Amino acid sequence: MDRIRIIGGERLQGTIQISGAKNAALPLMIASLLTRETLTLKNVPRLADVTLLSRILGNHGVDITVVGKKAGQTTIDGQTFKLKAVEIVDTTAPYEMISRMRASFWVLAPLLARCGEAKVSLPGGCVIGTRPVDLHLTTLESLGASIELEGGYVIAKAPKGLTGARIALSKVSVGATHNALMAAVLARGDTVIENAAREPEVADLASCLRKMGARIGGIGTSTLQVQGVERLHGAEHRVLPDRIETGTYAMAAAMTDGDVMLEGARADLLQEVLQTLRSTGIEIEERPSGLRVAWNGGALNPVSVETSPFPGFPTDLQAQLVALMSRANGLSKVRETVFENRFMHVQELARLGARIDLKGDTAFVTGVNGLHGGQVMATDLRASVSLIIAGLAAQGETLIGRIYHLDRGFERIEEKLGQCGARIERVSA
Ligand code: UD1
Repeated sequence: MDRIRIIGGERLQGTIQISGAKNAALPLMIASLLTRETLTLKNVPRLADVTLLSRILGNHGVDITVVGKKAGQTTIDGQTFKLKAVEIVDTTAPYEMISRMRASFWVLAPLLARCGEAKVSLPGGCVIGTRPVDLHLTTLESLGASIELEGGYVIAKAPKGLTGARIALSKVSVGATHNALMAAVLARGDTVIENAAREPEVADLASCLRKMGARIGGIGTSTLQVQGVERLHGAEHRVLPDRIETGTYAMAAAMTDGDVMLEGARADLLQEVLQTLRSTGIEIEERPSGLRVAWNGGALNPVSVETSPFPGFPTDLQAQLVALMSRANGLSKVRETVFENRFMHVQELARLGARIDLKGDTAFVTGVNGLHGGQVMATDLRASVSLIIAGLAAQGETLIGRIYHLDRGFERIEEKLGQCGARIERVSA
């Protein structure tokens, strides 16, 4: 299995191109199941999750073409995908596929909405908390579907189609909101989704669905109104920039006393994060083409942060913040409220010299004078990148195992960091 090897201590300096958001690209690709016509997606990141989802969609009958590179284009440009589902050839999504990526469970709603039936394996994905799907299922039931669980599969049926309804989500869930939207756009009549997730990736999906002919109001708010239509048509949409990748590289820059331009980053997608980072002393300049992040040495101010749904501090940047705060001047408090058990990175960071006490849902991070290299193991997608951030600043060599987690969500990470001066490479065992 490949590992990542980092020799820490180099300042990151240069430019990093921010890719299209994984968490937007996945639901957008899934939305192609809702129409017979071509959905063209631009700025799709090169990620293992995207490749896996392409295979899953291919099984259902989606024909996917990745537009070839044109003269002058580089791998830095996002990919253009053309997805066309003239006919759905299979409404079953098998365990072997769905168990490898949680978001692939979201095919349930569009398959049901378009074909009146779907059989989808219960999901897998990152091992963080229990991550149930109850909200997805009650949402579809509200729209008139019958749901049965059998042998690890969800069997959903709505032979006469779905009917619009009022859906009040009992908890803010990104996935359940995607699911509710993709089901409601083809339902008969009106749907109101209350307590909807306001994440920019939900808004990105809603905007794309609107281009496809869906009638959706309240985009970006916690109440979405959907007027069902009979069919959707093709459209062209550009995937928004990845705010989690942006925040990650901003913290990597600060961790190494660096000065990095994050090209293509959008400040409006991560205001709370920028505010937190600024409160530590990091300089962040908003420019028309992106964000410049710089820190000129010295300890950072500690922070007290709680993760929460958008517009709050994202859980997907919690591990990276914990790593960064290990170099702060004092005690930081980082509370995780979105997922249980999302602190697997803590014991690995401790192997590199970080001082972190875990009490319930809160990590108390005491800043230290310096981290040292060591051998560590990635446990999930965001945890693995927190180890990279720590390794970049640690003295000596850090070896990170199980990096397949990283390839799921970070495009060409060694190349992007390497171009800014990091000594980082992938080594085969
Ligand atoms: C998405 C993101 C993930 C991010 C998370 C929260 C993608 C591909 N993934 O995951 O990176 O960390 O949002 O911002 O976009 N819950 C239930 N019942 C349900 C569904 C969820 O109780 O039916 C709970 C979860 O256990 C969790 C909370 O709701 O505690 C939020 O989860 P959710 O927003 O659904 O996360 P995902 O959509 O899976």
